[in-house]
Amino acid sequence: MTAPNILVLATGGTIAGAAGDAIRHDYRPGQLGIEELLERVRALGIAASLTGKQIANIGSEDMSPAIWAALHRETSAAMAEPECDGVIITHGTDTVEETAFLLDLTLPTTKPVVLVGAMRPADAVGYDGLRNFANALQVVRSPEAAGRGVLVVMGDKVIAARDVRKARTRGIDAFEGFPRASVALVTPSALEWFGAPWRVDEPARFAFAEALPDVPILTVFAGMPADYVARLVTPATRGIVVEGLGEGNMPDPVRQALVALAAKGLPVVRASRLEEGLVDREPEDEANGFVTARALGPPKARILLALLIASGVADLVAIQREYDRR
Ligand code: SIN
Repeated sequence: MTAPNILVLATGGTIAGAAGDAIRHDYRPGQLGIEELLERVRALGIAASLTGKQIANIGSEDMSPAIWAALHRETSAAMAEPECDGVIITHGTDTVEETAFLLDLTLPTTKPVVLVGAMRPADAVGYDGLRNFANALQVVRSPEAAGRGVLVVMGDKVIAARDVRKARTRGIDAFEGFPRASVALVTPSALEWFGAPWRVDEPARFAFAEALPDVPILTVFAGMPADYVARLVTPATRGIVVEGLGEGNMPDPVRQALVALAAKGLPVVRASRLEEGLVDREPEDEANGFVTARALGPPKARILLALLIASGVADLVAIQREYDRR
């Protein structure tokens, strides 16, 4: 295989983190610059020509619409370059699912785009960042990687953006996929895809929105009073995602408060606070004026609703159709 040209966009996270001590638990994400990281990657001797660009160097709790816009701009430009074979984005693990899903919905599928992170900082004993990066290189170099949308590589798994979730706070196997556990298994020397690409040469599904509309997440808990809904909604709010109990359930006073907002034209999407589980449409959703998130957890349901609103999709049937498609 000739060495492919890969653009590496760095945003920080634990993959670029440092503790200053190999066995210390606490550390700071976003300490290594991209050139330091690429120097270590190049020393692995994998056939790839890597060009690094530092977009940010943050903990991903500080991921922002401005950084998303830069990532989208740089990735789109790279995908349009005939010489570029794919893009790797280094990212903190806390919000990688949101960035992956946003890019998945707003980029074409013509070249591989892979997000990668780490659970242990770069100076820790057992740093997983280098292995995850080597795995990401395996994926991006694969002729079968395009046509699957944006992918996340963590812990020897390749998980599609629609499915990926950080499921555990610690451990190098912190990521899960739902409903598909993974679309491939990968090591630095092997890659096994489960099935053929399913989104070959798809154009971007939505235009990228520089400013996403205000869509908060309402986390439901036992005994929640209805006034939590009013406390969350401001004049800027354009829609709400409900992180509901079980299959997207909520106490009746909360339901009534949300029905009143839905009646005023605010889209209300029921999702679940559980890690895994579909939230399907029930007969009462019609009467309540609610939409259901299907397989999307609340953070991704929020991204989709914000993009739909930004694209001018206001009709509840059309909004539900988009959740049913994911
Ligand atoms: C972060 O998300 O930036 C910190 C956690 C991590 O990368 O694992």
